[in-house]
Amino acid sequence: MHKKLLPLLFLISPETAHKLTLKALRLVPVHWIIKPHHSQRLKINLWERSFPNPIGLAAGFDKNAESLRGLFQLGFGFVEAGTVTIKPQTGNPTPRVFRCPEHKAIINRMGFPNRGVAQFKHNLEKFLGQKPRPHGVLGINIGMNKDQTDPAKDYTSLIRTLAPMADYLTINISSPNTPGLRNLQDKEPLTELLTAILNERKISCGINPPPILVKLAPDLNDRQLKDIANVLMALKIDGVILTNTTLDRPSALPQNFASEKGGLSGAPLADKSTQIIRKFYILTNGTIPIIGVGGISTAQDAYTKICAGASLVQIYSGLVYEGATIVKTIRQELESLLIADGYANLEQAIGSDHKTTNGEAHVKSA
Ligand SMILES: Cc1cc2nc3c(=O)[nH]c(=O)nc-3n(C[C@H](O)[C@H](O)[C@H](O)COP(=O)(O)O)c2cc1C
Repeated sequence: MHKKLLPLLFLISPETAHKLTLKALRLVPVHWIIKPHHSQRLKINLWERSFPNPIGLAAGFDKNAESLRGLFQLGFGFVEAGTVTIKPQTGNPTPRVFRCPEHKAIINRMGFPNRGVAQFKHNLEKFLGQKPRPHGVLGINIGMNKDQTDPAKDYTSLIRTLAPMADYLTINISSPNTPGLRNLQDKEPLTELLTAILNERKISCGINPPPILVKLAPDLNDRQLKDIANVLMALKIDGVILTNTTLDRPSALPQNFASEKGGLSGAPLADKSTQIIRKFYILTNGTIPIIGVGGISTAQDAYTKICAGASLVQIYSGLVYEGATIVKTIRQELESLLIADGYANLEQAIGSDHKTTNGEAHVKSA
């Protein structure tokens, strides 16, 4: 996890390295090693939540919400736990995670292994009961069990149980490793599912319901993206996470790595996810806040996504390849990039690629 330990972690299997990292985050007093750094310029308020900085941990890293305290202490402005499903499930057979360090890429076909919502809730209660709770926003990413034939049943049940504990909820319909899941991005099933989800939120949450975000795949064509943007705007969905892993295999990747089945993340995903962010921002006229994710390992990568339209960003593969100090480095350098471009705060930079110098939106075609 620390940059000096990374070569050692790369000697063992990705999943064992991951388990060791999560354990270390529970045992080591991370805040003694990484000192908090606060910047007014990086603060942002969204959905009536206060994000100390825009760098988040993407879903899949802490699937069971077991190391949240240590993860927040790394300096993330927000952490997304999950994907959690109703019932525990083992996921696909191992090995199911593959690294390609030369390309800073990962392929995974995990298939939502997790201990189920009861254990997740127990872990979350323990975290939320700690005083003081670490500064930052907590997202919960929910998905359906592999054997579920009625997706709305799982998603609404998860909302009933977890919504009161979440600062925001992510509806994951874009992991490529659960058969049929990505079909939920089609117009009719999407409308049906999100309508059921919004109804459930209305029933089970009080005056301050958590915002609902939808996480999408990068492998959507323009027609699909337009349909989805229209559905999300019509239903007044609060936000969108762009993107999950890709099924693409750029030709530069070595054949033995590229031939593994699953979703590709890391550097080879960076441009593709930024393009989706750019198009979605244009399609929605910037009205639906975007969390940008895919191949971020430097402040410039994060800034590119912010200027393309992301209000917040997340990282996963970058943490694996750069180590724990990536969060601090990105935060510090992002602040310098904002200053260099004359922005007083992060908000001014969001979607700046689409605006004229006097701040007005100008129409660029997607
Ligand atoms: C090993 C692994 C497991 C993942 N598990 C999940 C998951 O459970 N739910 C989810 O929404 N995304 C999951 N993701 C996708 C990430 O959250 C993220 O969207 C994707 O990796 C792109 O970001 P990156 O290039 O910074 O890794 C996973 C990614 C990896 C590499």
